[in-house]
This record gives sequence, structure tokens and C-alpha cells, in this order.
Amino acid sequence: MRVEDFEEYEQINLALSDLIQKMDDSSQMKKMLNHVCSSGGKKIRPLILILSTEVCGGDKSRSIDAALAIELIHSASLIHDDLLDGGILRRGLPSAHEKYGVAAALLCGDFLISKAITLISPYGRDAVYEFGSAGMHMAEGETIDVRSVNEEFRQKNYFECINKKTASIFASSAAIGAYIAGCSKDEALRFHAFGEKVGIAYQIVDDLLEFLEELEDKKSTQESVTLPQIYSRTLGREEAVERTIAEVHRYVGFAKELLSTFRPCPAREKLFMITDHITVDLLPNRI
Ligand code: FPP
Ligand code: MG
Repeated sequence: MRVEDFEEYEQINLALSDLIQKMDDSSQMKKMLNHVCSSGGKKIRPLILILSTEVCGGDKSRSIDAALAIELIHSASLIHDDLLDGGILRRGLPSAHEKYGVAAALLCGDFLISKAITLISPYGRDAVYEFGSAGMHMAEGETIDVRSVNEEFRQKNYFECINKKTASIFASSAAIGAYIAGCSKDEALRFHAFGEKVGIAYQIVDDLLEFLEELEDKKSTQESVTLPQIYSRTLGREEAVERTIAEVHRYVGFAKELLSTFRPCPAREKLFMITDHITVDLLPNRI
């Protein structure tokens, strides 16, 4: 079974298109949301949220709005990221600011964040706190990223950067899903740690594919400093790539170890599949 065949994937897409279709047809915001949200996307973060609810024995229909909130804030972060690093192509389409201009793109991000807040707000303290923390961490991580080109950027800085800018929303998605199911603090923390490890592995792979120039569906004018680049300061290209791949396997191993601590069930199997799908399955066969 492919991730795109999961019923949860279909549910997220339906809820997302429903949310956009309800908006006034004449609104420019609706046009932009259609462009940003209907351009594919793997919906990994909302999937992680819903599946975490299911693993914890919760009712997945209760997670849909929270999953949408996560997808919307993620979309906002990509619009803002493209503004910050001169992104021109996103998911094979022109970035929001390329298509609609900087002001409109910025406001589209504002709209998405605000809509996300309305969707997450009924979920109670723990979920809302996680949600807010993810946004704060993403912004902090992006600050480190933006400064990376001007400073001595080492492995330690890289991991802090990707933990915050990328892994934080994976971690919060998993924890929010667990909280919605009414699980214990310990379970939520284990889900949080699982999301963090998957998120780190995912960003390392994304950076590796950029280093190897294997990303065809997105393009930016400014590049961030990445792990293979840091390794290649002292190692040959092949060895730098091999060490980067070893790091991916290490973090995937941590993620799977954490996932193994939860009860076996179809939702847990799906989380194992997603873990591979966005990390090791994307690694190049040849260097
Ligand atoms: C992609 O990085 C960008 C991120 C993972 C996060 C961006 C976060 C922000 C702009 C802060 C937003 C905060 C809120 C609250 C919305 P990348 O440039 O390495 O990856 P890419 O190749 O996909 O662009
Ligand atoms: Mg970018």
C-alpha cells in the first residue's frame, strides 16, 4: 500500500478542499489558497497527527481539524520560506510570491496562520501549546538558517537549525495527535520524540538531494548550508555523501525504536511506512 492510498490521506485532502471551497469565489485569497494548497504535497505532518491519535486508541474523526491546522501552518511556513530564500519553484509550480507578488504572498501566509489558530483552538491546552511552540521553533530555526551563510556554520548549528525549522512541527504533530486521544504525558513525549527524529532524518535527506542536485520540483536562489556541505569541507564528495546517508539511517533507527514502544496496530504500521517513505526510500541508489 502506498501512502497516497491511506484513507487518512484522502480525508485530509477532502477536508482541505472543503475548507477552500467554502470561501467566497471572488476572493483573491481563495485563488492563492487554491494555488498553494492544491499543488499536491505529501500531507505527511497531518498524517502523522491523525495516525498518532489512532495508535493511542483515539477517534481519528476528532483529529481532522487539528490535522488541517498543521497543514495550514506548514503551508504558511513554506510561503514565508520562499520569500526568505528566494524560492521560485515549489512543488513544481511558481512559488506564491512569484505568482501573486510579495505583499499578497505575505498576507496569504498571515491568513493561513490565523485560520490554523481558529482550527486548533478548541483542542485544549496541551494541543494548543504544542501548536504554538511549533510555530515559535520554526521561526527560530529559520532565523538560524538565514544567518547560516554569513557565519561559521558547524554541524552543531546545522542540527539545531533543522531540529527547530523542520523537526519541531513533525514532533508537535505527533504529540498533538496523542493528546487528542487523551493519552498519558509519557506517551505524548514519546510521540514527540518520534516526530522529531523523523523530521530530522527528512530534512537531512532533503538537503542531500539538493546537494546532489536531484530536486526537480523546487528551486531557490539562495541556498542554506547543509550537512553534506559541512562534511565536504574536510572529506571528499563521496565520503561526505556516505556520512550524510549514515546520519539519515541513524535518525530513522531512533524514530523506529520509539515507534516500536507503542502497541502494534495498522496505524502504527502506517507510521513505519511514512518514516521510510520520506527518508530512506528517497535516498539515491548511486552516489
Ligand atoms: C524549508 O526549508 C522551510 C522550513 C522547514 C521552515 C520555514 C519556517 C519559517 C519561514 C517560519 C514560519 C513560521 C510560522 C509560524 C509559519 P528549506 O529552504 O531548507 O527547504 P525547501 O527546499 O523546501 O525550501
Ligand atoms: Mg527554501
